[in-house]
Amino acid sequence: MDFNLTEEQKMIQQAARDFAHAELLEGVIERDTEQKFPHEAVKKMGEMGFLGMMVDPKYGGAGLDSISYVLALEEIAKIDASAAVVMSVNNSLVCAGIEKFANEEQKMKYLKPLASGEVIGAFALSEPEAGSDATSQATTAEDKGDYYLLNGTKNWITNGGNATYYVVMAQTHPEKKHKGINAFIVERSWEGFQVGKKEDKLGIRGSDTHSLMFTDVKVPKENRIGEDGFGFTFAMAVLNGGRIGIASQALGIASGAYELSLKYAKERKSFGTEIINHQAIAFKLADMHVNIMAARMLIYKAAAEKDEGKDISESGAMAKLYASQVAMDTTIEAVQIHGGYGYVKEYHVERMMRDAKITQIYEGTSEIQKIVISRAIAKK
Ligand code: CAA
Repeated sequence: MDFNLTEEQKMIQQAARDFAHAELLEGVIERDTEQKFPHEAVKKMGEMGFLGMMVDPKYGGAGLDSISYVLALEEIAKIDASAAVVMSVNNSLVCAGIEKFANEEQKMKYLKPLASGEVIGAFALSEPEAGSDATSQATTAEDKGDYYLLNGTKNWITNGGNATYYVVMAQTHPEKKHKGINAFIVERSWEGFQVGKKEDKLGIRGSDTHSLMFTDVKVPKENRIGEDGFGFTFAMAVLNGGRIGIASQALGIASGAYELSLKYAKERKSFGTEIINHQAIAFKLADMHVNIMAARMLIYKAAAEKDEGKDISESGAMAKLYASQVAMDTTIEAVQIHGGYGYVKEYHVERMMRDAKITQIYEGTSEIQKIVISRAIAKK
């Protein structure tokens, strides 16, 4: 077992750290307050290869391993969790799914622009009545011969307002339940496709989350991913990888809050000494440090297993469950360490606390991760 990063992985980590400080730090509070999408930074992330990190260069990607990806994502999320989710969804849910399961024509047409960051993508599974209960898809894709007719509504779609291409799950054969679901690549410009309201969120306010409406959208048959009825298996496989991305986002939020807290505790004085000299504060920092390292190890293990081609349903869910809990716990304590300063925007940790919460909800709530993990344990 080797716990050392390669020189290339260290370089990528440093490049992401430098990028986050240079391009994301300035304006992060304003983007959060005003719910502004980081357009310029996302464009630059594409130019740097951060939007298609693991995709084969022949499809416009950077051709890197999953460890490099989680390292970069942590660094981006330390500074701006909103930019991190844009990156995570494009890499893990959109590009990875298309690269693994789409055919050559689909990859040449859609993956190339998505992986190179020319455009961004979104993953549309959740519905008003189907969040955790993802098999209950009410969006329908009626088979009309050489095209499908798509009708329905999707909710809480990350990148919903800024994407050009959408991977959309819909039910074709309701009698077959989840085995009747298909996945399609849908273009934003198609008639009948409408981007709905933008959600006013507690956290990750710099990312755009929208509902999507489909009214008699004609989807050519060649835009279906995989065989008829493959859509749910596709979505589950994609989400297994996606959970490593969200775990890394959570890790970045936690480690960002920890670093700010450590710095603050070394500078801030109370009762005649720097507050790090009070055990009440020092023990909080010790807990944060241990928990963050443990989360990081779970994430690296899942990422390494992904690169080895192993089934990562269990390890991805474990990494996400734990890292998201650590993000929540760490940011709450970070606010506490900062005291009154922690409660105002200027010190960043209140935003991190708000951002942390979503990591326990999207790409499967913590309860869903426990379902996945407990089912895996039961099979052993
Ligand atoms: N990996 C691979 N296959 C899986 C799987 C997994 N993790 N979980 C379930 N499956 C398969 C099962 O093996 C089964 O296949 P077969 O019928 O061929 O045997 C099939 O899926 C149906 O599974 P279940 O019978 O277990 O269905 P269920 O309804 O009891 O549970 C679930 C399924 C695990 C709860 C699933 O619905 C789920 O993961 N829900 C959460 C959905 C989710 O994560 N949504 C996130 C939306 S995307 C998002 O948030 C993106 C963003 O904006 C950032």
